[in-house]
Amino acid sequence: MARKYDIKKQFVLPFLEQFQEVRIPTTRYQGSKAKLVDRIWENIKDLGFASALDAFGGTGVVGYYLKQHGKRVFYNDYLKSNYYIGVALIENNNIRLSEHEVERLLTKDPKYDYRSFIAKTFKDVYYTDEENQWLDMVVQNIERLKNIYKKALAYYALFQACLVKRPFNLFHRKNLHLRFAEVKRTFGNKATWDKSFEEHFMDFIREINYLVCDNGKENKAYNLDVFEINGDFDLVYIDPPYTSLKGISVDYKNFYHFLEGLVNYEKWGSMIDRRTINKRFYRDNNPWNNKLKIRMKFRDLFEKFRDSILVISYRSDGIPSIQQIESDLRLFKKRVRVHKFDNYKYVLSNSTTSEVLMIGE
Ligand SMILES: C[S@@+](CC[C@H](N)C(=O)[O-])C[C@H]1O[C@@H](n2cnc3c(N)ncnc32)[C@H](O)[C@@H]1O
Repeated sequence: MARKYDIKKQFVLPFLEQFQEVRIPTTRYQGSKAKLVDRIWENIKDLGFASALDAFGGTGVVGYYLKQHGKRVFYNDYLKSNYYIGVALIENNNIRLSEHEVERLLTKDPKYDYRSFIAKTFKDVYYTDEENQWLDMVVQNIERLKNIYKKALAYYALFQACLVKRPFNLFHRKNLHLRFAEVKRTFGNKATWDKSFEEHFMDFIREINYLVCDNGKENKAYNLDVFEINGDFDLVYIDPPYTSLKGISVDYKNFYHFLEGLVNYEKWGSMIDRRTINKRFYRDNNPWNNKLKIRMKFRDLFEKFRDSILVISYRSDGIPSIQQIESDLRLFKKRVRVHKFDNYKYVLSNSTTSEVLMIGE
């Protein structure tokens, strides 16, 4: 594939040009707290804690914010793709990708026998044939990086590039055609979809290299079910998947299965439910996606981390209700505060809702 893009010319330009006192990664992720993290911090900064667990870390924006404020941060997410984001942003204190390393990631290794899993499996599903071939090459180049931090940085850039080129930034439907349809759009950005993977990848490499920071602490990322986490943390931040009043919940494995496949490239084929049109994974039994179990799981988690300050994010219009979460929190905590951030609008949602922050000390 001929390179349309001059790495050397473009590499020096800073992607996030504006000076920000606290850096916040750009993010296209369901339920990301990027727009709320300042307000969350305002409400917890005086609590006197040195370590924090971001138990459902997602994009890592909350853990990363705490890292920048000198806390020792433990990040966790049950998705391996997210775990790599935690490694890149939180566990990694000083490793960056050099121009030479990026060039190698973008170049076909003549000595390597590449597989074409994505091109074969996802034809006409999410990306064009040419894009699928590019993904097959780059992901196998990333896989062969030996240093976990470099690998995590490269995955970060790859995931972000994959997300910006997707209508709705998700993988819940086979809808490649939307990118090319001659219709008046109320969503998305055709210029972004049409920009090459390579250009997006470079932009996000610049972004993640810029975001790498050392707070002098030994921070750590985990890839565990939340109940498998062991350790003592002064504060635990709990931001689980949201379940609506109708009982519909955000199934992260379903929305982001393609990214999860990228980090499981060798065994991806065995994870896919071939009967599905969009080639998603087999469903798991995550209790956080079960309207009948979620309240009990909240309570179990409060009990598990009863010795820590508990900080919970949830929406005002879900199962369980804020009143139920609050009363369960009071079983373990003497002092409970509830803060409501009104008129919050989530991606893909037409209505506004309130985001609620609960703090139990
Ligand atoms: C609401 S999002 C968290 C958003 C995050 N605070 C942010 O700002 O990006 C919930 C996260 O929980 C993760 N998750 C779902 N079930 C989990 C489980 N059983 N254990 C750990 N993490 C889980 C999902 O992968 C998802 O990233």
